[in-house]
Amino acid sequence: MRPLVSRSKFFRALAWIVPGGALLGVSVVLAVMAFPAAASPTHNRGHKGDGVTVSKAPYGTLADGTAIDQYTLANQHGMTVKIITYGGIVTEIDTPDRHGKIANVALGFDNLADYVAKSPYFGAIIGRYANRIAKGTFTLDGTTYHLPINNGVNSLHGGIMGFDKHVWSATVVPDGLKLSYTSVDGEEGYPGTMKVDVTYTLTSKNALRIDYHATTDKATIINLTNHTYFNLAGEGSGDVFDQVLWLKAHNYTPVDATLIPTGVIAPVAGTPFDFTKPTAIGLRIREADPQIVIAQGYDHNFVIDRPAGDSSLILISKAFDPASGRVLKTWTTEPGVQLYTGNFLDGTLVGPSHHTYRQGDAFTLETQHYPDSPNEPAFPSTVLRPSQTFTSTTVYAFSADGHK
Ligand code: GLA
Repeated sequence: MRPLVSRSKFFRALAWIVPGGALLGVSVVLAVMAFPAAASPTHNRGHKGDGVTVSKAPYGTLADGTAIDQYTLANQHGMTVKIITYGGIVTEIDTPDRHGKIANVALGFDNLADYVAKSPYFGAIIGRYANRIAKGTFTLDGTTYHLPINNGVNSLHGGIMGFDKHVWSATVVPDGLKLSYTSVDGEEGYPGTMKVDVTYTLTSKNALRIDYHATTDKATIINLTNHTYFNLAGEGSGDVFDQVLWLKAHNYTPVDATLIPTGVIAPVAGTPFDFTKPTAIGLRIREADPQIVIAQGYDHNFVIDRPAGDSSLILISKAFDPASGRVLKTWTTEPGVQLYTGNFLDGTLVGPSHHTYRQGDAFTLETQHYPDSPNEPAFPSTVLRPSQTFTSTTVYAFSADGHK
């Protein structure tokens, strides 16, 4: 579907924004390591002390007896990422502030039961179709397909049993983890048996890279993302309204009352959706703009500034927490990104810090194709055919302002 972005091209590009970034490439030349015994870390060797370790520990059992594991990716620079095999969920991202103080910047739970019972997609792999498809209906090659309606009148995030609710098989790879899942023909109403790999890798420079790869045996649609809720001051620390966001997007896709795009590509200029200059997330979040009112905050797809059809890996966002100095730069090959400010968080969910989560306590940057693309011929296509391979890459790169 899209050309794979070569790692050398990626690291050349990253070197452009990260001082000393040329070193970022060193971790990728490592040989694949055999997986160690439970909970004992694997040190990937072969370069100058920047090895990323991958370790595994039990994370509980589903009602049907399936054992779930948690993998911990850790580098030598204070960053740790934890991922469970249930939903491929990123349960924790620990990263230093400008003083080297570590905090978990990803909302989540401290136990499997809560993820199964009540997670609003915290940290999960989303598929087969990230975001909404109007009335759960689309037509492809003359056949109309019906998907489960699980969000008002629409189908959201792959349906009732989306990719976020399946158990993925895990393989340790250099500096990370490859998760695999086969979605059978007709699952959640989608045509074609789809084989999906999602690879999480941690770099020695505090970037979490996510590579998606999928194939199908029948024409189908696909839109994959990761649904991490970020709070750069740490999960459970309150709202993100003072955190500053820049988005490489001069346009967005306004929605109807059910959060389905109207089909219009609208300029952000002069609206609360203008993040083309770094702006505090909360500055305009209570303005009486009709789009803000519909979503009770931000829950919109931004159209990334890039030439039509371009799928190179580019920097699309920078988020900054002035209090801690933490910075999150996002890179993607995708044409869109969903900015969601946790508008449905209502104080009933409790995170690992034993604090409740409320509206505005996080932001997501769900890199994606636009919502409801199968019903909008003018939007970039989300069709995947048996002759094609779907690939997509997103990088969440953390740093700290002023950190030595
Ligand atoms: C996406 C959607 C939101 C909401 C969240 C999960 O961001 O656009 O409306 O469904 O996922 O709660």
